[in-house]
Amino acid sequence: MRRLENKIVFITGGNSGIGKAASLEAAREGATIVVADLPKSNYEQTMNEIAALGAKCLFVPIDVSDVNSVKQAINSTVEKFGRLDVAFNNAGIGGVHSGIHDMDEEIWDRLIAVNLTGQFYCVKYELQQFLKQGGGVIVNMSSLGGIKAERGLVPYTVAKHGVMGLTQNIAVQYAAQNIRANAICPYFVDTPLLKAAPPELRQAWIDGTPSKRLARPEEVAKAFLFFASDDSSYCNGTQLILDGGVMA
Ligand SMILES: NC(=O)c1ccc[n+]([C@@H]2O[C@H](COP(=O)([O-])OP(=O)(O)OC[C@H]3O[C@@H](n4cnc5c(N)ncnc54)[C@H](O)[C@@H]3O)[C@@H](O)[C@H]2O)c1
Repeated sequence: MRRLENKIVFITGGNSGIGKAASLEAAREGATIVVADLPKSNYEQTMNEIAALGAKCLFVPIDVSDVNSVKQAINSTVEKFGRLDVAFNNAGIGGVHSGIHDMDEEIWDRLIAVNLTGQFYCVKYELQQFLKQGGGVIVNMSSLGGIKAERGLVPYTVAKHGVMGLTQNIAVQYAAQNIRANAICPYFVDTPLLKAAPPELRQAWIDGTPSKRLARPEEVAKAFLFFASDDSSYCNGTQLILDGGVMA
């Protein structure tokens, strides 16, 4: 029996990087995949790759920073498939290096809107559906920056710390309703999110990691699969760190 057989899995940011790797991993494990990503995404390639694995899939447009768009995307999922079993709240944008004393307020607001408030909007409407149907699983994308400071990435790390708080609150408030929520905390992962980073900064991240390389999106997708499936049935409000040894 595959680990997500017949599960309806909703993945924000499912068209790129970690979200795409998770979409393909879930497809291999028997799930039906809802790829939720920005309206202008070129999603055909991802949908073709999912379909080639024999899985059903649907693209729904979403901007996680817009509450109505989030509500609509979750409604469309439930209208199409009748329920929602697993939600991977993964969509996010990268940080900009800055001091706190000279932080640009607009950059702060946008980071918090997408990476933290967007997670709250998704969780709110996912929980409403889970309460109606008698349970569900949430996997929230945090970061190693949700556990410790990453020098200069201020609103990014603040948002990711907030995701940890959100995840723990879901666990304590909804465990009795058969709802679990856990968070994934990777260090730097080789995805399009890092494409704006100068080569010397990228090299510094690699040099500062005992494993001497970035994580691959497929490695993070395995952590998603663990939390999404019954393999983690007694994990709630906790996190999995993928950091190549940094915290050690
Ligand atoms: N790459 C890393 O080093 C790294 C490390 C730790 C955590 N993360 C987190 O992993 C998640 C996925 O990042 P990735 O590295 O795969 O990046 P990515 O850029 O490859 O993918 C991000 C996806 O999110 C989507 N997205 C962006 N803003 C959105 C919005 N407002 N509404 C809906 N979708 C939106 C993008 O279209 C894209 O498909 C992010 O939350 C990121 O913070 C990444």
